[in-house]
Amino acid sequence: MKYFAPLALAVGALADVTVIPSDSFNSFGTYWNNFYPWGTDHNGSGRMAASQIKTGSGTLTLVASPTSNPSPPTSSADPHLAIKYASGAVHAKEQITVTDANSYSVYGEFSAPTAVGTWPAFWLTAVSGWPPEVDIGEWKGTAENWYNTFNTSSVVATTRVAWPTDLSFHSLEARLTAAGSDVKIDFYMDDTFKATQYGKGFAGAAMWLIINLQMEGSSGSPGPTGETTYQARNVKVTRSGS
Ligand SMILES: *[C@@H]1O[C@H](CO)[C@@H](O)[C@H](O)[C@H]1NC(C)=O
Ligand SMILES: *[C@@H]1O[C@H](CO)[C@@H](O)[C@H](O)[C@H]1NC(C)=O
Repeated sequence: MKYFAPLALAVGALADVTVIPSDSFNSFGTYWNNFYPWGTDHNGSGRMAASQIKTGSGTLTLVASPTSNPSPPTSSADPHLAIKYASGAVHAKEQITVTDANSYSVYGEFSAPTAVGTWPAFWLTAVSGWPPEVDIGEWKGTAENWYNTFNTSSVVATTRVAWPTDLSFHSLEARLTAAGSDVKIDFYMDDTFKATQYGKGFAGAAMWLIINLQMEGSSGSPGPTGETTYQARNVKVTRSGS
């Protein structure tokens, strides 16, 4: 037995810490807050409302519904689009900071709309300043997912992968590891490696994890005249190291 003790310690030191468990939407308030970290508005025509956020059976459902007479009528965020939808966004309570002492896996399974004017996302963005931004899932109204890493607003790595339009669930994952002061991000879809991107100076910078259904903006317009649904399940964040 005495030979097992050092092995157990070594395994313990390397074990993954579960930051967000795959059933987190069954205990929403423990792991998630409503809306974006900064509020209800961003750079599309959707304004987030609690009524559009639903959880059940381990699944998050965000619904965008056409709205009329929104108050105020335009988004508070640049470029101040007219608000046309009530929609849903959530962000994780726990922030993600990649350092040389850890690495992260950020995983989820998504049923994502791809119609013109629908702009769902699963992404990391800076807690203070900007960037970092890493888009693990970003669908801009076409049958593609965009993986993006922003060094600046104009220096952006983008890899597009085909995405089915039938609303079937597919998994996305980003594995983030420090590379000096930068962060290396390996992107996967359905457990298949797709791309590596590097974020300049992202090491040590805290990031929020956001799941949102924004509308129009980068995904084109006009958006749908009926309801749009975006679902996420088995979202899981693990950290190796400290
Ligand atoms: C962002 O910066 C990293 C680190 O310097 C570099 O490896 C990467 O190529 C840059 N991305 C783009 C799109 O230039
Ligand atoms: C909207 O904001 C996101 C997140 O910061 C950014 O990636 C994107 O470039 C912005 N798009 C437009 C059209 O403003």
